[in-house]
Amino acid sequence: MEIRKLNSNEPLPLHLLLLADPSQKLVEGYIKRGQCFIAEVNDQVIGVYVLLPTRPETVEIVNLAVDENYQGKGIGKQLVFHAIQNATLHGYKTIEIGTGNSSVGQLALYQKCGFRITGIDRDFFIRHYTEEIFENGIQCRDMIRLSQDL
Ligand code: COA
Repeated sequence: MEIRKLNSNEPLPLHLLLLADPSQKLVEGYIKRGQCFIAEVNDQVIGVYVLLPTRPETVEIVNLAVDENYQGKGIGKQLVFHAIQNATLHGYKTIEIGTGNSSVGQLALYQKCGFRITGIDRDFFIRHYTEEIFENGIQCRDMIRLSQDL
């Protein structure tokens, strides 16, 4: 598997980006301002993450997804560690990520990768998404914010 930056002339792996973020409008908004990285196996795109500079010396992983057929094999973890190394290499001092209160697996993954919870944006998903989202039998309402010093 290779992880590399997506070239500007290559198509966006929209099916993967929408796995992590059901709002195509939000995805199209941040993809223009951020950098997209892909994981490939035999020329097939199986994973993606997007890094977006937010404040001075701070970058956020705004999208992270692994093809459903390849989940649970450690690829998500490799992508998060790649994003951390990438941000460090480019001189950022803080990396952030956010996920829903109902995203139990993602909260586990990010904390295993060294992120700590810094705050909660209450009702974020109610304000920004028209459809109700349920995961693990829990309604997704609040955005859990996590960060890591680099
Ligand atoms: N409880 C505890 N740990 C869990 C867990 C759970 N419910 N679900 C996952 N984990 C752990 C795994 O055990 C693994 O830890 P380990 O390496 O110590 O065993 C770690 O999280 C990562 O697993 P990994 O195989 O690298 O994850 P993945 O390749 O399946 O990718 C996602 C993770 C989230 C990127 C993938 O599931 C995905 O694309 N989901 C849909 C899109 C999405 O939700 N994106 C994130 C939006 S915030």
